[in-house]
Amino acid sequence: MSQQYVAAIDQGTTSSRCILFDRDGRIVSVDQREHRQIFPKPGWVEHDAEEIWANVEVVIRESLDKNDITPDQIAAIGITNQRETTLVWDRETGEPVHNAIVWQDTRTDELARELGGEAGQDRFRDKCGLPLATYFSGPKLRWLLDNVDGLSERAERGEVLFGTMDTWIIWKLTGRHVTDVTNASRTMLMNLSTLQWDPEILDAMGIPAGILPEIRSSSEVYGEARGHLAGTPVASALGDQHAALFGQTCFDPGDVKGTYGTGTFLVMNTGTEPVTSENGLLTTLGYKLGDEPAVYALEGSIAVTGSLVQWLRDNLGLISTAPEIETLARTVDDNGGCYIVPAFSGLFAPHWRSDARGVMAGLTGYVNKGHIARAVLEATAWQTREVVDAMNADAPTEPTTLKVDGGMTADNLLMQILSDVLDTEVVRPMVAETTCLGAAYAAGLAVGYWPDVETLRANWHKAAEWTPKMDSAVREREYHNWNKAVRRTLDWVE
Ligand code: G3P
Repeated sequence: MSQQYVAAIDQGTTSSRCILFDRDGRIVSVDQREHRQIFPKPGWVEHDAEEIWANVEVVIRESLDKNDITPDQIAAIGITNQRETTLVWDRETGEPVHNAIVWQDTRTDELARELGGEAGQDRFRDKCGLPLATYFSGPKLRWLLDNVDGLSERAERGEVLFGTMDTWIIWKLTGRHVTDVTNASRTMLMNLSTLQWDPEILDAMGIPAGILPEIRSSSEVYGEARGHLAGTPVASALGDQHAALFGQTCFDPGDVKGTYGTGTFLVMNTGTEPVTSENGLLTTLGYKLGDEPAVYALEGSIAVTGSLVQWLRDNLGLISTAPEIETLARTVDDNGGCYIVPAFSGLFAPHWRSDARGVMAGLTGYVNKGHIARAVLEATAWQTREVVDAMNADAPTEPTTLKVDGGMTADNLLMQILSDVLDTEVVRPMVAETTCLGAAYAAGLAVGYWPDVETLRANWHKAAEWTPKMDSAVREREYHNWNKAVRRTLDWVE
């Protein structure tokens, strides 16, 4: 085959990127553009979908041009994206009817509670694997239908289309209105067994089926691109956390990855049957390759990890750049008795309490800024521990190693603390851009650029590893203290 590269587009929460990979899974070129975060009211977060699409077009072109790569050298395009973010646009003109409502947006708090009714938060969990929470797309779509003038009627007439960001980008690239099983699994509207939109949930949420995209596998040709990469097959779509699972080659049940960014998302492959969580995790899709059986996953989503470091930098001014947290935390040997639970917008997994609020606990006159920095890093590790404990309780196969990626994994102290509190080996791969890599892999498999998943597994190389060094009595005492601090966040609103 003459084509040398696969292009992956990552439409993320803060930016859009295009990365080109070669056959060894190595990065050949990257381009990235940030987009505006729009905050119309406290708790509301929106994106301008036209701005995002314009950025996507730029990063595609630039990633090729900056390395003199021509469109005919690209074998396929893969898409990965921020999940749950909800958009509706006009079927004819393509014009969005409203800004996209971002996954972090909490405007549907009340609505989600109403939808739960007497059955409560888990009303639809059996079918879709998710609790009713502001996080997911279904209630956001309902909010748009209720609040954009005339939209409900236009939706009934089939004049508008709904999509998450994968759908928007694929529609812009190819004109096809499709999504993949992983993205659909975050809407609350897809039935985990049939992998189709669930008529009962649609009915309960009042969503007309005609505006929803067709659900396809994560790895198949959806259509040919227009524009700069005209004629190139668009051949994969995976929500970003699912793409990272795939890029980390977590192909076996029990394999688990953690992506450490502004939030942290732990995803564990549970094989070809969905596992119902009894411990506050989400049941979700891992990936589905063409006609092969779907692979399911359990996910623990943590809303605030890296953004706590940003808060220390921007709101408290204790550091001037995020990486300085490691230097500051290394000025002390321990947390000095201080624990920070960053429930800034409630707590996600495993608690799912939107009313929780953050606490800094255990303060004495002894605590200094080094201890606070240390408590900030430990907050990420303990939140991970809560999720991993839930995974161990829910899943038939206990994870033995955590594969990590994302910006925060550059912090070696954090990685050591993580290994200590989990009492597990933590490993980081050579190619840290696992999200884009996963999308590229799924697209490359669909067009035969890579022959099979075994070839992809051979591309995974360890760059660093951390093994537990903490005394088990210390670990248990610290976890006990952490849990006490968590209880304070849940008690905050009575
Ligand atoms: O569920 C939200 C997640 O997909 C967002 O990811 O990396 O764009 O913040 P990211």
